[in-house]
Amino acid sequence: MKKFAVPIILTVIFGWLALWFTQTYQWFPMQASAEAVPVDGMILLSFEILAVVAALVMVFFVYALVVFRRRPGDTADGPHFHSHNGLEIAWTIVPLIIVMGMWWHGVQVADSMGLLRELPSDAQALQINVTGQQWAWSFEYPKQAGVPESFSSDRLVLPVDRTAVFSISSPDVMHSFWIPEMRMKMDAIPGRVNKMRLTPNKAGEYKVRCAELCGTDHAYMESPVQVLAAEGFTKFVADNDISKLSPEERGEKWAKTYGCVGCHSIDGKKMAGPTWKDLYGHEVELDGGTKVKADEAYLKTSILDPNSQIVLGFKPNVMPKTFQDRFTKDNAGKSFDEVDDLIAFIKSAKVDTQP
Ligand code: CUA
Repeated sequence: MKKFAVPIILTVIFGWLALWFTQTYQWFPMQASAEAVPVDGMILLSFEILAVVAALVMVFFVYALVVFRRRPGDTADGPHFHSHNGLEIAWTIVPLIIVMGMWWHGVQVADSMGLLRELPSDAQALQINVTGQQWAWSFEYPKQAGVPESFSSDRLVLPVDRTAVFSISSPDVMHSFWIPEMRMKMDAIPGRVNKMRLTPNKAGEYKVRCAELCGTDHAYMESPVQVLAAEGFTKFVADNDISKLSPEERGEKWAKTYGCVGCHSIDGKKMAGPTWKDLYGHEVELDGGTKVKADEAYLKTSILDPNSQIVLGFKPNVMPKTFQDRFTKDNAGKSFDEVDDLIAFIKSAKVDTQP
């Protein structure tokens, strides 16, 4: 036993140093949700165990290299020795117990967050439907306590200290919903709805990122997140009460929600699609030379059946052909028509250019 004294003492010293470093170093970004605490705890625990194991292995490894190195002139084989059953059983059983303990701890944490089975529904929880699509996030707040009418938003606004339950899906390819400061991450998968719960506990500004490679603009697929005090959230809901908005104001909202403004400018700038500035009531030259007047019927057809009339200088098949379906679905049970709202907004796009 005496010959092990030196490596054991060295292991204790280096193990203690590694543990001290692990606990002192700032590994994690700020913790902005209740879930961040157990998640960080789990990671830190495995770092601590790894630090001690690494010290044990490295000390014995380096010690053996130095102390049992071949001396000059030594050509003999090393002495033959038998394995030690007790030692072998110990170094099999002890790591097994440690790993099983870490696994069980992980199971408990995952279960407490509703990742393994659905948790009993929490009446206080805020329900939010998240859609990840190439390449933007959108957030729908369905009708529920505190939200008198469902609405969508291109930024995620959450009340502080209130659990939010996200129902996450995608209409195209896989994305992954991730707010690093809140730790939790969940895939958005076409054809299914994944649930994730979070309790933000620090007011502030964050970002949702996409953590799944999803095409050209994956790196830019991010949306602002605001965690507000309860009053701020109530105001956000009131600001989004669409029943109070005029058709033009609603149209402006849809133009953002549906991504129209990604391709159509309202200031005359040429983008992937024709500008809306001064469009209404003016003559438009179509591909092929026909001239038509941009009236309501023209705008409606252009939105619902974009390939039927291509403006000179633009290409067919650029604008999605899915709006007919989406508007039909989104208009169901509402007192207004989103297409009419959009047309109202397009009409207004000339107002501010005139004195
Ligand atoms: Cu969406 Cu990456």
